[in-house]
Amino acid sequence: MKTIEDLDVAGKRVFVRADLNVPLSDGRITDDGRIRAVAPTITKLLQAGAKVIVASHLGRPKGEPDPQFSLAPVALRLGEILGTSVSFATDTVGESAKATVAALADGEVTLLENLRFNAGETAKDDAERGAFADQLAALADAYVGDGFGAVHRKHASVYDLPARLPHAVGDLIATEVAVLKRLTEEVERPYVVVLGGSKVSDKVGVIDNLLGKADRILIGGGMAYTFLAALGHEVGISLLQKDQIPTVLEYLERAKANGVEFVLPVDVSVSASFPDTKTHKPVEDFEVVDADKIPADKEGLDIGPRTRELFASKLADAATVFWNGPVGVFEHPTFAEGTKAVAAALLESNAFTVVGGGDSAAAVRILGFDETKFGHISTGGGASLEYLEGKTLPGLAALEG
Ligand code: 3PG
Repeated sequence: MKTIEDLDVAGKRVFVRADLNVPLSDGRITDDGRIRAVAPTITKLLQAGAKVIVASHLGRPKGEPDPQFSLAPVALRLGEILGTSVSFATDTVGESAKATVAALADGEVTLLENLRFNAGETAKDDAERGAFADQLAALADAYVGDGFGAVHRKHASVYDLPARLPHAVGDLIATEVAVLKRLTEEVERPYVVVLGGSKVSDKVGVIDNLLGKADRILIGGGMAYTFLAALGHEVGISLLQKDQIPTVLEYLERAKANGVEFVLPVDVSVSASFPDTKTHKPVEDFEVVDADKIPADKEGLDIGPRTRELFASKLADAATVFWNGPVGVFEHPTFAEGTKAVAAALLESNAFTVVGGGDSAAAVRILGFDETKFGHISTGGGASLEYLEGKTLPGLAALEG
């Protein structure tokens, strides 16, 4: 792959496909990790005298403008982080984008509006995506792919656009890929994986692959209840994907055969209702129960104290750790203890620790951990999982050529 240094960028319009899909609450950015992660690439290009056009998606609008998914708040924050003003185009390839790009001087930067406001960005149809990519290509002279969180998407700006312009990989993607190689090619053992998050179905591909690679797999979060149900336990009104039970049972069998240790919660924190993650209203009926004794009218919302200790002990001797997905509803303080304990155990171990994107990366920062103390905090949730599944990622393949 070519790097930024291989591109001729001075005085050129350089399109940077970033992943600025940050969590927003009432229009306020609650975690700016992804913006900070791509800033060095933008700064490097600005210092090299490029006219930088940054573009990203935000959320999942339906192929037309939708104000709740506007990147306008991100333009402001990007400007603060870069220490320079960032102009904002209120469309993607229309009059505003054309005028904003035309107004750029060397060393200046603009952000386009959400790429997904145009149906061509995510279209399944190659011609429709291609037509949008043509319009984007007309705005720029070169392309830098640095939206690691979106490289698993076969979208116009990720997959089709690089083929239309001289292109290079950005520094963020280069770093992310180097880290993921350490987890797949020469992994140091014991290799321990912690998986959380709500759905087993999001993680089946990666578990399938890890059963041939990891030494231990620790399961928490909403997905743990499907494992507990597969073992015949009552899970009350906890999250449950019944259709995944046969797959989960097969994984438990294969783990035994491969000598991979599966570690499930032994106790859980429960309540009769989902906590209010906005107001943090105290949870009156909170209790800790054994994982095989969840009351029929209660929902498991975090791992319990014994599981926290168990997980910490299983992480203590690790040489490599990959963690994806919070193990509880960390957005409410009553159910944040499990996720805090996992983060603390990672920091205490001498392992090379990788926190895999999305919610777990945000959790680490929101819960106040020093992100520089982890080996690597990925900006890609789905992207890092698909990489670990061994899939070809369209956005990386496009940068190879
Ligand atoms: C993510 O948040 O994982 C990336 O930004 C990709 O978003 P998407 O799942 O909506 O494509």
